[in-house]
Amino acid sequence: MKKSNKYTVTAALPYANGPIHIGHLAGVYLPADVFVRYLRQKNRDVIFICGSDEHGVPIAMQAKKEKKTPKEIVNKYHYMIKDCFTNFGIQFDNYSRTSKKIHYEISTSFFKKLHEKKKIFEKVSEQFYDEETKQFLPDRYISGTCPHCNKSDAYGDQCENCGSSLIAEELIHPKSTISGSFPVLKKTKHWYFPLNQYQKFLEKWILISHKKDWKVNVYGQAKSWLDQGLKPRAITRDLNWGVPVPITQEKGKVLYVWFEAPIGYISSTIEWSKRKKIDWKPYWKDKNTKLIQFIGKDNIVFHSIIFPIILKSYNSGYILPNQILANEFLNLENKKISTSKNWAVWVHEYLEDFPNQQDTLRYILIANMPEKKDNNFNWKDFQRKNNTELVAILGNFVNRSLTLVKKYNNGIVPHPGILSIKDKNILNKIKNYPEHIGYFIESYKFRESLTCFMDLARLGNKYLTEEEPWKKKEKKRIDTILYVSLQIVAMLALLAEPFLPHTSKKLLNMLRLKTFFWKKIKNIEKILCPGHLLGQYTFLFKKITNESIQKQIKKLEKIL
Ligand code: 2FM
Ligand code: ZN
Repeated sequence: MKKSNKYTVTAALPYANGPIHIGHLAGVYLPADVFVRYLRQKNRDVIFICGSDEHGVPIAMQAKKEKKTPKEIVNKYHYMIKDCFTNFGIQFDNYSRTSKKIHYEISTSFFKKLHEKKKIFEKVSEQFYDEETKQFLPDRYISGTCPHCNKSDAYGDQCENCGSSLIAEELIHPKSTISGSFPVLKKTKHWYFPLNQYQKFLEKWILISHKKDWKVNVYGQAKSWLDQGLKPRAITRDLNWGVPVPITQEKGKVLYVWFEAPIGYISSTIEWSKRKKIDWKPYWKDKNTKLIQFIGKDNIVFHSIIFPIILKSYNSGYILPNQILANEFLNLENKKISTSKNWAVWVHEYLEDFPNQQDTLRYILIANMPEKKDNNFNWKDFQRKNNTELVAILGNFVNRSLTLVKKYNNGIVPHPGILSIKDKNILNKIKNYPEHIGYFIESYKFRESLTCFMDLARLGNKYLTEEEPWKKKEKKRIDTILYVSLQIVAMLALLAEPFLPHTSKKLLNMLRLKTFFWKKIKNIEKILCPGHLLGQYTFLFKKITNESIQKQIKKLEKIL
């Protein structure tokens, strides 16, 4: 089979109902960004697609809370989220919105075709209705006790405590989240997807083809749904906010957000293709293209079961995801992050409090990424990792190397003398790092890839400390040590890009180096040639003070 070098990487479309926090970054956007930056560095043909999810009950609820219209809410948060991503260095090729015309067109065309081909059916059923507010209560408009974990306040679509996806009828003691009243059942018509008809297809695709290569959490949730047996599921809702159902004149019927939002990946790609004047189809319809989807843990069923069924039943050559990647949860100071309780580190606030320190947060969030189990972010650890790892290891090694070159060789890469065995070993070792780091990134082991990167900085630090060029009498030996150190610095500058893009850019500027592609990095004997003049040195990282950490801790204490 022809080896494809195309990748379509998507990151879950965040609801535009609030700002994003560190949990979103560590769970979805940062691993996706590291992965894409790495692929770009390898010169792979990759597109990175996202956008705001602007429909559904979460938006309508926030509008009510802020006494605004849903439109005002999505406008406010879409730009806020988009700016946060840009400032934090999450580099999408396209960041769209599901309220755009293009998305209405694409999502309704899916619905219309499925309807024409009789892939969906109409059914009148009884659904919860709030008699006080005179409206149906889909999804988060209803809450009750979770049938799985018995925790109260689970929503009609999902339990935030155990992460189970629910349907409203499963809730024990349901009540309206709008008025608090007990709902009645009332007849209403909806369109349903007979998910059960795809049971066999999914069993083959997931349980056989992806048993080994999907992560345990994704595979496990998908399997548990399949084990319970798939049932028909409504793909429309009674709501005044959303994409209107295209085949009816009835007011207040919209597409279920979880039907149309994943189609948003496609409409966002089409938007990108129009802007770039590049055909979008190979990114979604070439069977050699790899579709890699980074999502939140609570999005698993929609990406492993529902979206693949939509793509399959639409039957126009869409590829299915190769990988669906979900992390576990990131806690904050050992407590579950909660938007409603304001227990979070908001990205826009971080960027204000720690300007130009995006990479510090990137570093800590990758190092603490909840890849296999829940993990914790705490401010003391943030300070410690910044000061003892970024400043004391990476920053210190780069600083020492460049200062010494300035001092002993006027900032020019020296010509090495005879290389010792140790020098040769080091130069050989450096060459292996791209492959090691690449292996971990391609296995979605981002924490290990970062550890590997930092090992190179450690290696450099150790080499310099042991060789002590400042104590050497012979200039040629000093030159040789500095030459070797500079090759490590240069490799660090290049390999830092996926993890610490701002730092990488800064360092490449200091070295007066251009970005290299991976192939070149791997085959290169030396990255910095003797005689090359280095640029001006500025510190890579700043120490984080006790005061700035105390300020963050106090902010959280006020919430408790
Ligand atoms: O959980 C969320 O924030 C959803 N808005 C994710 C949607 S992902 C995709 F389907 F669009
Ligand atoms: Zn639960």
